[in-house]
Amino acid sequence: MRTKVGIIGAGPAGLLLSHLLHLRGIDSVVLERRSRAYVEQRIRAGVLEQGTVDTLVSSGVGERLLREGLPHHGIELRYGGAGHRVAFEKLVPGRAITVYGQQEVVKDLIAARLAAGGDLRFEVDDVVVHDIGTDRPYVTFGDERLDCDVIAGCDGFHGVCRPSIPEGTLTEFRRDYPFAWLGILARVAPSADELIYARTDRGFALHSMRSPEISRFYLQVAADDHIDAWPDERIWAELKARLETVPGFTLGTGEIIEKGITPMRSYVAEPMQYGRLFLAGDAAHIVPPTGAKGLNLAVADVRVLTEALAAFFEDGSTALLDGYSRACLTRVWRAQHFSWWMTTLLHIFDSDDEYGRRLQTSYLDYVTTSEAAATTLAENYVGLPYGEAG
Ligand code: FAD
Ligand code: DHB
Repeated sequence: MRTKVGIIGAGPAGLLLSHLLHLRGIDSVVLERRSRAYVEQRIRAGVLEQGTVDTLVSSGVGERLLREGLPHHGIELRYGGAGHRVAFEKLVPGRAITVYGQQEVVKDLIAARLAAGGDLRFEVDDVVVHDIGTDRPYVTFGDERLDCDVIAGCDGFHGVCRPSIPEGTLTEFRRDYPFAWLGILARVAPSADELIYARTDRGFALHSMRSPEISRFYLQVAADDHIDAWPDERIWAELKARLETVPGFTLGTGEIIEKGITPMRSYVAEPMQYGRLFLAGDAAHIVPPTGAKGLNLAVADVRVLTEALAAFFEDGSTALLDGYSRACLTRVWRAQHFSWWMTTLLHIFDSDDEYGRRLQTSYLDYVTTSEAAATTLAENYVGLPYGEAG
């Protein structure tokens, strides 16, 4: 079997790449380890930057997103017994975020690829990439072989592509955090119109949502915490303790329909390419979820890679492909800093002494009183405009 671009992974990065390449007349095959049902139901991120929404809409997969997505023009920072709104409409006019579940984006992209006759293979075993340092790379899976011009490693942080790059080629940068996020999805109307990022002495909490009937919440928990230690009553009690901290706010509760614990880490591998293998999304970099950047960064990488591949398949030019990593990394590092900063601002660290807590409060006070500081948060949160490269 032969294709131009062999794509490993049917997460947002792999599916969007396959879709955008198709619009440029470039064929691809997507190989995914999990089942279609599994990837369509995997609950993860929910905040889409303006640029992500524009990318999905302009490429023809935004119809349901525009209908069901919830545009938000601000967020609340809640700490010290008060709520403070960061008003995007004033600070970054014309830019907003849209709340729409990652698994809905995945469903929309799979539907579009299948409607266009795209080749998506689910539940493929033992994917291995070969000869990536040559111009005839290929992939084996099960007892099949897929010959490609280029391989796109869109297989997430624990995938096979990054580890197949020869040792000594990549420089890795990482930071681990001494806590994790416990996330739940609950059948209850959101208790506020906008997202609430709450810093408390008990730890961080986030109030988010998916629809007028479904809410999403996160709690900072210990890095080694186990979900079995968190029966539903304990989760609601802790959410109430961390969110009912301003006068007049009552948290609605309901049936918990999904719960899980996600580790927090920052990670970048440089460069994001080796020979004919190009890494995109979580395969190349991870951010802690506080800034809601993971999915959005994956989309930004794929935009750059699409342009580079379009040039390559049009006339064989490799200039954009050679510059792929450089073009992505400026944005990647901005998101790394923003995500680390938001995480540091809002969580309790074991190492915190009273000095550290006062510094945190001082910065929160600055962000909620200075227009300059609030604009820094707002413009990063809604997403900086794409650069010339993508
Ligand atoms: P993924 O979505 O990870 O897609 C990779 C795909 O590759 C998967 O479908 C996987 O099954 C497949 N794959 C892996 N290995 C192989 C293999 N060997 N062969 C074939 N296929 C393979 N971000 C936020 O902003 N907010 C959040 O709340 C949030 N929550 C998260 C919760 C979890 C548990 C995780 C893991 C991530 C979360 N993120 C969150 C990050 C965000 O979801 C990711 O940044 C986003 O999914 C990146 O998309 P991707 O396509 O690069 O990778
Ligand atoms: C959601 C996730 C995030 O990481 C975040 O910062 C805001 C919202 C969510 O899943 O809704």
